[in-house]
Amino acid sequence: MAKVKTTFYCQNCGTQYSKWQGQCTSCKEWNTIAEEVLQTPEKSDWKSPASASKKRAAKPLLINEIDASQDARIDVVDKEFNRVLGGGLVPGSLTLLGGEPGIGKSTLLLQMALRLPYKTLYVSGEESQKQIKMRAERINPSSSNCYILTETKTQNIFKQIEELQPDVVVVDSIQTLHSDYIESSAGSISQIKECTTELIKFAKETATPVILVGHITKDGHIAGPKILEHMVDTVLQFEGDRNHVFRILRANKNRFGSTNELGIYEMQGAGLREVSNPSEILISRKDDELSGNAVAATLEGMRPLMIEVQALVSTAVYGTPQRSATGFNAKRLNMLLAVLEKRAGFRLGAKDVFLNITGGITVDDPAIDLGVVAAILSSNEDEALPKDYCFAAEVGLSGEIRPVQRVEQRILEAEKLGFSTIFVSKYNKISLKQTAIKIQMISKIEDLVGFIV
Ligand code: TYD
Ligand code: MG
Repeated sequence: MAKVKTTFYCQNCGTQYSKWQGQCTSCKEWNTIAEEVLQTPEKSDWKSPASASKKRAAKPLLINEIDASQDARIDVVDKEFNRVLGGGLVPGSLTLLGGEPGIGKSTLLLQMALRLPYKTLYVSGEESQKQIKMRAERINPSSSNCYILTETKTQNIFKQIEELQPDVVVVDSIQTLHSDYIESSAGSISQIKECTTELIKFAKETATPVILVGHITKDGHIAGPKILEHMVDTVLQFEGDRNHVFRILRANKNRFGSTNELGIYEMQGAGLREVSNPSEILISRKDDELSGNAVAATLEGMRPLMIEVQALVSTAVYGTPQRSATGFNAKRLNMLLAVLEKRAGFRLGAKDVFLNITGGITVDDPAIDLGVVAAILSSNEDEALPKDYCFAAEVGLSGEIRPVQRVEQRILEAEKLGFSTIFVSKYNKISLKQTAIKIQMISKIEDLVGFIV
C-alpha cells in the first residue's frame, strides 16, 4: 500500500512544515500546527465533457487582439452590491464574501439569488433546505429561478451543477466544503485550498461567476490560508455592528473595479434594504438643539456621508479620567484632547470624555476630526451648536486645521441636505462659485472656538 502522505500546516497563517512543532515560526502562534493527510490526487476534480472541448492550450496574444467584450457584467439587481462589485458580477469570477457570524452574509446572497433573473444555484453547507426556504419566504416569496442544494462534497456539487447548468453559483460557506482528494476535515487549510482551486477551475472554464461565503477569525481575517484571498478575484467584507441596523459592504480586493466603493444596507424584518441616501438616516436632526452634537461631512470610499458625532464631557468622578470612543480611534481622540488642552487652553485633563459616532459605523476618514473637536467643545461648554452647521477638516498636532481631499464633494452634499454653514480648512482650494451654503474657512483651532463658544 502506498504510504500516506502527510504534511503540517499552521492553522492560523497557513505556513507549511515538514514536521510538527509547538510554535509557528512565521506567525508566532502556539499550538496552531496540525497534521493534515494529503492523498496525492490523480487530479480529476472539475471536469465536464462540455468544458473539455472548450479547453485549449493557451498561447500568447497581442494585447490589442484580446477580446475583452466577454466581460459583460451580470446585474445583481441590487444597486449597492453592483457598485461594490464595480458594476456587476464578472462571468467566470470568484468572489469571496467575509464577515462576522450573524451579520447577514447568507441573507445578502440569498436575497441576490432570489432576485436574479438567471438560473442560480445556492449551495449551503450550513443550513437545511427548509431553513433556507423559511428565510427566503421572509425576503421574497416569489422566485422561480433559484435552486437550493444542501451538500458539502465538491464532487457531488459539480455533479449537480453539470445537470442543472446554472448561470450563477453561490456557496455558503467555503469552510464547510470538502473534497474527496484530500483527507483532512472540512475547514482545514488543505481542504479550503483544494475546494477553492476546484471552484476556480470550474468558474474559469465555464465562465460562471461563483460567490463564496468565508468565515472570519476572531481578529477579523478570513479563516483559512491567506492564499485564499490571493486566489479569488474579489474579496468583499460585510461589516457593521450587530446591535445597529446598518451594514456596510466593502471591497478589500477587486480585480474588476475600485476598492473605494461602499454599499450600505439596513437590516429589516424582510431582509436587507439598500440605503441609497445614507446621510439622511445617519443624522437624526432632532428639533431641539442639544449640546455635544456635531455633524461631520466625511467620505466613505467615493461617497459623501454626513455623520453625527456625539460627545459627553463631564467632571471625572474617579481619580483617572475615562476616555472612551465608539466608532472612532481612541488614540486619535486622546490626541485631539491634548491639542485642545495645549492650543486652545481647555482644561480637559481632569474630565471624562465619551465619544460616539451614531449609527454604529466606524469612521477612519481624518476629515471627521473637526466635527469631533466641535462636539467636544460644545459638550464642555454645554452650548448647543446651531444644528445647520457641519464640519470637514483634519486637525494637526499644532492645532492647525488641515485640508482634506475632495472637499467640494462634501460641500455639495452638505448643501443638498440643507446645512447653512460648513467649516473647512483655509488651505483647501475651492473653486465652487455661488453656493447656497456658507463656506467658513478657518486655519487654527482657536478660530473654531471663536465661532462656536
Ligand atoms: P445571516 O444572514 O444568517 O448571517 P450570516 O450568514 O452572516 O451568519 O443572518 C443575520 C441576522 O439577520 C440573523 O440574526 C437574523 C437577521 N435577519 C433579519 O433581521 N431579517 C431578515 O429578514 C433575515 C433573513 C435575517
Ligand atoms: Mg450564514
